Amino acid sequence: MDTGFLIKQAIEAQKQAYAPYSGFRVGAAILCTDGSIYTGCNVENAAYSASNCAERTAVFKAVSDGRHRFLAIAVVGNLEGRENERELCAPCGVCRQVLSEFTDGSLRVILARSETEYEEYTLKELLPLQFSKKNLQ
Ligand code: THU
Repeated sequence: MDTGFLIKQAIEAQKQAYAPYSGFRVGAAILCTDGSIYTGCNVENAAYSASNCAERTAVFKAVSDGRHRFLAIAVVGNLEGRENERELCAPCGVCRQVLSEFTDGSLRVILARSETEYEEYTLKELLPLQFSKKNLQ
């Protein structure tokens, strides 16, 4: 897997962020098992709770296109204008739960400052003991 390329896609997606309320702009790119990549940005709303995170935008785009199996997701985020001093942006709890629906926990979560500077975790590390379809059997 080309981690740098996936991060680059997340950085491109971040440019579409609609974040007039928080000013915090996020981009995500998710790699499917068939090699396709779906990107997403955060989309805020005047009614704040109606906002959607970049990671979920990317997952929902992929799923609505018939992709349910993922290998990795790259995420970038920063306050507007601070692209050169990015902090790592870890997915929120809701996004971790949404990601967990479609993986056994081995999903690679790449938190990036740039194409070459990043930290990598598995989803299981970020969300142990998740509620899952197993609980409903
Ligand atoms: N946000 C994301 O899109 N992804 C994250 O991982 C963290 C937070 C968005 C939600 C909201 O639009 C803004 O960042 C500030 O919370």
